[in-house]
Amino acid sequence: MKILGIETSCDETGVAIYDSDRGIISEQLYSQINLHRKFGGVIPELASRDHAKRLTQMTRDVLSSGEVNIDQLDAIAYTSGPGLIGALMVGAAFANSLSLRYNIKVIPIHHMEGHLLAPFIENKDITYPFLALLVSGGHTLLVHVNSFGKYQIIGQTVDDAVGECFDKVARMLGLDYPGGPAIDQKARTGDGKAFNFPRPMLHQGLDFSFSGLKTSVKYEIEKHTPEMIGAPKMLANICASFQEAAVETLLYKCEKACHELGVTQLVMAGGVAANSRLREKVNEMDDQIHVYFPSPKLCTDNGAMIAYAGYMWLKKGIKFHEIVTSPRPRWSLEEVNNESL
Ligand code: KG4
Ligand code: ZN
Repeated sequence: MKILGIETSCDETGVAIYDSDRGIISEQLYSQINLHRKFGGVIPELASRDHAKRLTQMTRDVLSSGEVNIDQLDAIAYTSGPGLIGALMVGAAFANSLSLRYNIKVIPIHHMEGHLLAPFIENKDITYPFLALLVSGGHTLLVHVNSFGKYQIIGQTVDDAVGECFDKVARMLGLDYPGGPAIDQKARTGDGKAFNFPRPMLHQGLDFSFSGLKTSVKYEIEKHTPEMIGAPKMLANICASFQEAAVETLLYKCEKACHELGVTQLVMAGGVAANSRLREKVNEMDDQIHVYFPSPKLCTDNGAMIAYAGYMWLKKGIKFHEIVTSPRPRWSLEEVNNESL
């Protein structure tokens, strides 16, 4: 089976083909970072226009480099939500138009399900049940996954998503957008113990809170002059200490959830799962817990994870939409369960 995957939920245009025999056979990713950088964040209208500008050519390129004729596709999977409404509409309209023109099944995919399944593209050893930590710019979710398509959210952020917190702290420090990779980079030469930033809600259930951590970094910055903050050692120490607090909080809750549920497999995915300190610090967790990460390029948004999720639904034989469906900018991962009944 061959599935075309289309991702346009935010500021990355991703197109890929998943082949059930050979894996990802062709992929293209265009990041709009340079387009949005000067504004310090994503401008939704610019994002939509740029997706519209690129999708046709990227799809042609992916088909030709994968040596696939469009009529050989078994399905077209696209991100139907959650995300920016305009950006989602571009992907949905494109996927549905191809489907109507070539009479190919179209499969709407939940963006976070794409992230959750991404580790399976490279690692077929993961078995159910497992716990998934999904950490991106818009979400911080702890999900108990009993089987494919059965997702129970057991913890989530009550305020900022952890990726959003990385982005906001980076902005306060005058670092480039997106903030996560910039902080990760600066933190490498810093001391994670230089500042004792809070680990919010550590002992309160499985939910997360990151806005207090962000505010605490803000207060620390305000104690110093911009010149002092910009000094390389100071900058590295603030980045490392902030990152340490965020990573420690995430891992503490993951370990707690694994123990409470008696689950020994933990999957981490989404943009923040590319963080080098998070990937390193899992080695300090209870060694009964096996942790799986996708490679960094499959952590951040991409078309491959959407193509793979489409393949999983196609294999299951349900969830096709014969009529054009509206994108769902707000869509809980748990609602996917009902659709798979
Ligand atoms: O999954 P993703 O690519 O897009 C969304 O669905 O949001 O995640 C983007 C988020 C951004 O907040 C970005 O700053 C963060 O992931 N991120 C990182 C790293 N790489 C990306 N955060 C921390 N460390 C990184 N290395
Ligand atoms: Zn994402």
